[in-house]
Amino acid sequence: MNFKEQIQKRRTFGIISHPDAGKTTLTEKLLLFGGAIQEAGAVKNNKIKKSATSDFMEIERQRGISVATSVLAFIYKDKKINILDTPGHKDFAEDTFRTLTAVDSVIVVVDVAKGVEEQTEKLVEVCRMRNIPMIVFINKLDREGKDEFDLLDELEQKLGLSVTPLSFPIGMGYDFKGIYNIYEKNINLFSGDSKKNIEETIAFDDVSSPELENIIGNKAAETLRDNLELVNGVYPDFDKESYLKGAQQPVFFGSALNNFGVRELLDCFIEIAPAPRAKKAEERVVEASEKDMTGFVFKIHANMDPKHRDRLAFVKIVSGTFERNKPYLHVRQNKNLKFSSPNAFFAEKKEIVDISYPGDIVGLHDTGNFKIGDTLTEGEELHYKGIPSFSPEHFRYINNADPMKSKQLYKGIDQLMDEGVAQLFTLEMNGRKVIGTVGALQFEVIQYRLEHEYGAKCSYENFPVHKACWIEPEDPKNEEFKEFKRVKQKFLAKDKKDQLVFLADSQFSLQMTQQKYPTVKFHFVSEFD
Ligand code: G4P
Repeated sequence: MNFKEQIQKRRTFGIISHPDAGKTTLTEKLLLFGGAIQEAGAVKNNKIKKSATSDFMEIERQRGISVATSVLAFIYKDKKINILDTPGHKDFAEDTFRTLTAVDSVIVVVDVAKGVEEQTEKLVEVCRMRNIPMIVFINKLDREGKDEFDLLDELEQKLGLSVTPLSFPIGMGYDFKGIYNIYEKNINLFSGDSKKNIEETIAFDDVSSPELENIIGNKAAETLRDNLELVNGVYPDFDKESYLKGAQQPVFFGSALNNFGVRELLDCFIEIAPAPRAKKAEERVVEASEKDMTGFVFKIHANMDPKHRDRLAFVKIVSGTFERNKPYLHVRQNKNLKFSSPNAFFAEKKEIVDISYPGDIVGLHDTGNFKIGDTLTEGEELHYKGIPSFSPEHFRYINNADPMKSKQLYKGIDQLMDEGVAQLFTLEMNGRKVIGTVGALQFEVIQYRLEHEYGAKCSYENFPVHKACWIEPEDPKNEEFKEFKRVKQKFLAKDKKDQLVFLADSQFSLQMTQQKYPTVKFHFVSEFD
């Protein structure tokens, strides 16, 4: 197989959802289709148990296991599928955002009863900003849920999507009879027997035929015809180009637990989802088919063994082939590095590979060279663009609790921030350090890791912040900006990239400040044009 065929064969994507919508279950069914795992439950066991969410030790333990599920690869119908794990747990959201820099498309899982939930909104917003192609899977149709059209409306209104259903349920919950597959023009009858899943698939391209009554009964036939007429009237036809541009999102319905509607999703996915796409670097756009290797670090995983401080850096290959023992330029450090044991990921194991292609993820052992966003090339000065930071939800001062170990503490904080565990802000007024996290539990994890991996002790102090905003003055020299800096000094800090951040203590004070200084721009993400 030549280089171009290798690229065309690959599909690298992430599954995003609010916790509990069914992401793990769906992942597992996809792996079963690929023959990558033999039994249901294999992925599930790796999942953070809900009962353990208040126990950070459990998170620590799971962190080790989650290396195994960071990338799940399998072959299905000749396609190499790489699923990148986007941890759905609240405390991992920062990490999840970063993973979205490495996917070529996503599948969004929505719970039929709960509809669009908060975390889905945030993640989809990032995908929309980057025009990532998205397919929506509405899950748990074996349960009572919201009306299908209300759900489609919700996807449009809450997520800003332009949807078009490619399948449509026949009944729901107790009355769930199956699904009409608009894309393949067939009916899948639901058996209700979890071992059997699909009772029968019947090719059926003319729903006006009276045969429909014989298959699903009079009432369901009438409802399905009405629904499909409405779908036809209201939603545009599926257009692959629009999907690929991120301008249209096909929707499937099913039940992951019952493995119902999953094969249809996967079959359509491998047909329409993009092979590795070109990626924008600061300098230029890089095509996957370019000969020279380029790639970037999107995730760093610390080793679980505190005695070995090496880490695993996850690199997405954007172009060219990544070869074992070949020197590559680490652009930020301007030095050449060789990797004697790059890891590739399969269903649940990793092994050393000699060659990897665009779309693939390689895991590189790292002793502290890498930061998230670092670029590797064959000599070209390229910088891939990352995902901007969003305001954390929780903020605390971090203090050194053992003055003899301040060096260790700062090194530890630095490395944990490089891993993307949390964000660090340094106050302008007094140089004190403030940690911002997405989930409150992360503070305990940081404290624990500083102690066990770096031998440093820290303590926290509350620091009430409503939101962090990145500041852009119209003119850094104008009087208004100078006054803003003077008056608000107490609330100003620098982030890790030395950008100025305003830490507003309440919504009210943020609004007042915005009104008072109209020439100062307050951004809610860390990167702006
Ligand atoms: P997540 O990764 O998005 O957090 O969700 P996960 O797959 O763990 O699914 C959350 C719960 O929803 C699980 O139940 C799972 O069995 C259930 N579920 C997933 N898909 C379907 C479906 O199609 N229909 C129904 N009825 N339920 C579904 P749980 O009780 O929380 O866990 P477990 O005891 O089953 O492991």
